[in-house]
Amino acid sequence: MHPPQGESLQKLAREKYLTTNLRALQQIKQQNMPEFVRANYEEFGHTFAYSVLGETTVTTREPLNMQAFLATKFKDFAISPAKNGPFFPLLGNGIFVIDNHGWEYSRALLRPQFARNQITQLENMEEHFQILADCIPDGAAGSAELQELFFELTIDSATHFLFGESCDTLKHRRSIIHEAVGREIPRGAAFAKAFNESQTHMFTRFFLKGLHQWHNPKEFKDAVKICQEFIDKYVYDAVALAKSGKLQGEVEKSKKYNFLHAIAKDTQDPVILRDAVMNLLLAGRDTTGSLLGWCFYLLVRNPDVQAKLRRAIVADFGAEYDPDRITFESLKNCKYLRWVLDETLRLYPTVPINMRTAIADTTLPLGGGPDGKSPIFVPKGTNIEYSVYAMHRRSDIYGDDANWFRPDRWENRPKTDAFGWEYLPFNGGPRVCLGQQFALTEAGYTVVRMFQQYKRFESGEMDPFIKCFSTLTTCVGGKGCLVRCYKE
Ligand code: HEM
Repeated sequence: MHPPQGESLQKLAREKYLTTNLRALQQIKQQNMPEFVRANYEEFGHTFAYSVLGETTVTTREPLNMQAFLATKFKDFAISPAKNGPFFPLLGNGIFVIDNHGWEYSRALLRPQFARNQITQLENMEEHFQILADCIPDGAAGSAELQELFFELTIDSATHFLFGESCDTLKHRRSIIHEAVGREIPRGAAFAKAFNESQTHMFTRFFLKGLHQWHNPKEFKDAVKICQEFIDKYVYDAVALAKSGKLQGEVEKSKKYNFLHAIAKDTQDPVILRDAVMNLLLAGRDTTGSLLGWCFYLLVRNPDVQAKLRRAIVADFGAEYDPDRITFESLKNCKYLRWVLDETLRLYPTVPINMRTAIADTTLPLGGGPDGKSPIFVPKGTNIEYSVYAMHRRSDIYGDDANWFRPDRWENRPKTDAFGWEYLPFNGGPRVCLGQQFALTEAGYTVVRMFQQYKRFESGEMDPFIKCFSTLTTCVGGKGCLVRCYKE
């Protein structure tokens, strides 16, 4: 066994990475964090270690290492030491921040609902898509900032799915555009704003690791309170229904299905229910919104891909909206649409950097020895940081065009020693994303409907350099995803 990268690593930890870590804060502000992390791997190797204030972190972009701590050595690593403290105020003991029995219980509670949602959510999607389209000006009149609109779309549809009614942020925007209402922010939109604000603070806390308690400003506490109060209304309604025995009949009528009511059949503990829903909102909103934002960002810069995708969509779903042709299966079967989404998630995985902590003395297969190809010893308590973003851009895996948007590459998916582990937008192993099919269906549906609604998309005025806004997830930053959407 070797320490990660041997002596050079210790030198690195002492001399370089302390300043590098300070530079990281600057990079977050400059909206360049994932690229900065990638550049560090280019300079220091695919796996290296650093220490900050006595805490050691091993950071890696090796598929085989990810396979080890996410799957084959799952029991030696935990999620909660790194995440529970920083995220607790908003996420409580929800699925994203806990381990062991608590996590098993949450996963078992949530999992059955994901098969069901695939059947029901397309009807809701159209309703929200129509409102989105009302908020997009014709390309001749100007550009739309699609990233923000996609976030509003995904929070509207996520709340619809979870509570049976939407928080209607897009409706609010539409009313303002058409000056039908005053500027008073409705409850749902205030929740969406507070939810955003909480996440920015949680990201700072996550970054501070063991020092997260230092960051707990009043704005964070206020934002968390707004989010909790918003959700508690639905939770208490569901608990009351469950206790009155009315829930059983309602859940069985598929039209009235809502996620919260379905899980309230199994538990009426309001804190468990609130944590479950809060975690799902976090999981379900930013991720899919970000995928859609990056997808259009890339499509307007790659007219050939845009044209090929249009041909595929017209062939499979028709040039005009036809609800019978857009189904869960037809979305899954449209190969080129899938490749475009897969390629977007390769270049811009929504969770670009993630963490685990070793809870036993253990090893990882790569990173030791002079060439980094030997196993490394990982003592209990070591933080593990992994960057899927940086792994997805390795030219030794994806070729010299690793940084290019080329959906056709998925026709011949790269085969490596760690086949399957070199592409991980949804994570892998026992904690693989529960909402993968939900997300790809929702994103696919939105892309298809955008292509049916508009004849072409062109880039609006954009930042000369790609800006990647990072909180817990990343999205198009800077001026946003400015796109001119032409109906003719
Ligand atoms: C493009 C969209 C999405 C991406 C890229 C994505 C990605 C991920 C990733 C990377 C994780 C692992 C987090 C970790 O273990 O540290 C995860 C977990 C999870 N995701 Fe997603 N996700 C997406 C959409 C969704 C949606 C729409 C839902 C539900 C509505 C969802 C529900 C979950 C849940 C419940 C977990 C926790 C699984 C567990 O710990 O057992 N995700 N997702």
